Amino acid sequence: MSSTRSIAHGQRTGYASLEAGRLSFESFPMRLFTKGNARHWNPADIDFSQDARDVAAMTDEERWLTSALAAQFLAGEESVTQDLQPFIAAMAAEGRLADEMYLTQFLYEEAKHTESFRRWFDAVGMTDDLHEFVDFNDAYTQIFAQELPACLHALHDDPSPANQVRASVTYNHVVEGALALTGYFGWSQVCASRGILPGMQRVVKLIGDDERRHMAWGTFTCRRHVAADDALWTVVNDRLEELFAPAVGVIANTFDHFGDENPPFGISVDEMTEYAADRLNRRLGTIESARGADLLSIDTDADPERLEETFHAEDQAALQQVAASDDAPAIAQA
Ligand SMILES: [Fe+2]
Ligand SMILES: [Fe+2]
Repeated sequence: MSSTRSIAHGQRTGYASLEAGRLSFESFPMRLFTKGNARHWNPADIDFSQDARDVAAMTDEERWLTSALAAQFLAGEESVTQDLQPFIAAMAAEGRLADEMYLTQFLYEEAKHTESFRRWFDAVGMTDDLHEFVDFNDAYTQIFAQELPACLHALHDDPSPANQVRASVTYNHVVEGALALTGYFGWSQVCASRGILPGMQRVVKLIGDDERRHMAWGTFTCRRHVAADDALWTVVNDRLEELFAPAVGVIANTFDHFGDENPPFGISVDEMTEYAADRLNRRLGTIESARGADLLSIDTDADPERLEETFHAEDQAALQQVAASDDAPAIAQA
């Protein structure tokens, strides 16, 4: 921002919303904000009664995998709810009111995601302590209890572009993009092929819609920093390299539970890993395309949003194929 007026917390010398043209509804974060406001949903409205019957009818192995995935998502949503807050302060320090406003919605959505999974466990009758489904997974602990909070909270002391890029790659591209969205996709395939867990299917669809905006914001944030300073492209790649092994470990450790046996529901770990790598590479391509680009054009360029919509269309097509290839009962997915 070229303004000399500061909106940093505790250092206010003016108001971004009062300045001519500074809060633009054409800017990338304000477009995401407007879109999210129009797509509000309430976790308490979702009916999990059929899910309770479906879980009760599962084999032990199916119930273990379903519980482990849901518990890892629940704890993951709690983590991202807590760890986004330093990024909001970093946007104020940089004078970016539109990003700060968008991140308040983003944070609210993560809190709703946490609520959704907790409501699901309560509805299916799993009200005892669930730590056994995450404690065994060292890679999970490394990502969610160490890497994620460390690099997000580093923004408190130093909200520099390099730290923002490290935080965004960790939060948006590894945790949300590589772990959460891949898990949601794998899971919705399972549900669609078997015609089970309609409440969870609804949750996954609504959360996926929110996550696409979150991912788009992460890609946008990395693009504007890389466009401003080409050296930050190396920071993107270095951070991804650091997190690659633990990210794969989160998935691999979970499926190790089944030893040499095939995991239930016909899930293919290789397929999920390939899906994650494909999406990660294509998002990286969009960040790379910002190298040397004009900063003003980055602020309104819809590329990151378009990419997430393309991914969504591809997921929908794949899900329809899965649902059509088995004799799955029709499940309302609207
Ligand atoms: Fe989330
Ligand atoms: Fe998210």
